[in-house]
Amino acid sequence: MKQHSSQGSASSRATVILTAVVAALGGLLFGFDTSVISGAMLFLRADFHLSDVQLEFAVGIALAGALVGSASAGYCTDRWGRRWMLLVTALGFGLFSVLSALAVGLVSFSVARFFVGACIGMASLAVPLYIAEMSPARIRGALVSLNQLAITVGIGVAYFVDYAFAASESWRWMFASAVLPALVLLVGMIFLPESPRWLARKGFRDRALENFHRLGRGDEAEAELAEVESALQEEQEGFGILLQPGFRLAVLVGIGLAIFQQITGINTIIYYAPTILRMAGFPSAKAAILAAAIIGVANVLITVVSIVLVDRLGRRFLLLLSTAGMGVALTLMGVAFYQKAGSMVVFYEVIAYIISFGIGLGPVMWLLISEIYPTKIRGKAMSLATLTVWGTNWVVTATFLSLIRAAGLAATFWIYAFLCVVAFIFCWVFVPETKGRTLEAIEHHWRHFGEKPAA
Ligand code: BGC
Repeated sequence: MKQHSSQGSASSRATVILTAVVAALGGLLFGFDTSVISGAMLFLRADFHLSDVQLEFAVGIALAGALVGSASAGYCTDRWGRRWMLLVTALGFGLFSVLSALAVGLVSFSVARFFVGACIGMASLAVPLYIAEMSPARIRGALVSLNQLAITVGIGVAYFVDYAFAASESWRWMFASAVLPALVLLVGMIFLPESPRWLARKGFRDRALENFHRLGRGDEAEAELAEVESALQEEQEGFGILLQPGFRLAVLVGIGLAIFQQITGINTIIYYAPTILRMAGFPSAKAAILAAAIIGVANVLITVVSIVLVDRLGRRFLLLLSTAGMGVALTLMGVAFYQKAGSMVVFYEVIAYIISFGIGLGPVMWLLISEIYPTKIRGKAMSLATLTVWGTNWVVTATFLSLIRAAGLAATFWIYAFLCVVAFIFCWVFVPETKGRTLEAIEHHWRHFGEKPAA
């Protein structure tokens, strides 16, 4: 199978990068809106006179929305197109952020946040999908991983915004701040081209070719389109394709990666870092929050490193390095809690954990689930994987504090460490290398998976 390495001119490369950067704003909104609630929580509780249960509901409702959003995102992006769904998502983020900010009580707030959550779920699928389909193979890893970079920046910006508005207790402005990136995404998506792969699948050959040109493919546009079309011809209708031997494995790999990205505990750190550090003995809440901010910055910086490396060292290497590093860091965290080794030791280990996650499992999971499926089922199969991310995220974060109560801090982190070992073995055995291969070449790999070469 032919592989294209679009060199392109500097300006065409800039077009592709700009397209990815604008689309990645969806990732920024994903990160922002999942974390902004942490700082707004206390003020919400006071203003709306919420009980514990009501507060938990108000915080968790966005996750429920994300489940619904990601479950429907595959169907919607397949049916109406990647670009349209990103447009609708941007509009939704803008509208429902304003409505969350204007909420007059628990009910109106929860309804607005549910829809913000649905946009988070939609964006978590549509952004990597869109970027993967419009990227040339050679730099696809870096471009799709901009999504993860944007998620980490969004998480960081949310902390900053929360901090900035905390003094005046203006929780409404915390939520309203999402309007700005939503607007930029909306305006950007009006001008960006639809995914040429989706257009080809829908039979709009001329527009697909035109968009490959707009994305700077030059002379290679025809060849890339021909490869897309030939892969489409091999495809059969319906969900049955998911059950073919090779594709079945691709679907399982996607679901497995989604489970392992969450079940190894990332969001216990992202959502509860100050709490964990306080339990480790940090002297004040303020010191713990500052330390959490440093963890957030480390998360952003390491993602930049991953972007630089992912198309050079490959997905597999980064995943293995990542799961191994996370496992070691978590084991040591358990030991530190067991031996009461002191707060700074735990802090350094948390940083080591975040660095290990950010170099691999964080960005590479989203990347792989955007590139390992055939075009025809990419939307639906990604939906399955994304739904798994949100479902597992919910289970892990909802059980974390109870797990600590039941098993203790040390054992809790050892459980996550053990799951890193399982994740390492899973990646070692099942995850294929996709570096530098066109999406069609990857599809071909699965289609002929397990076939004996002709004698
Ligand atoms: C995960 C999120 C996590 C974030 C942290 C993403 O890849 O899907 O659950 O909060 O990384 O950087």
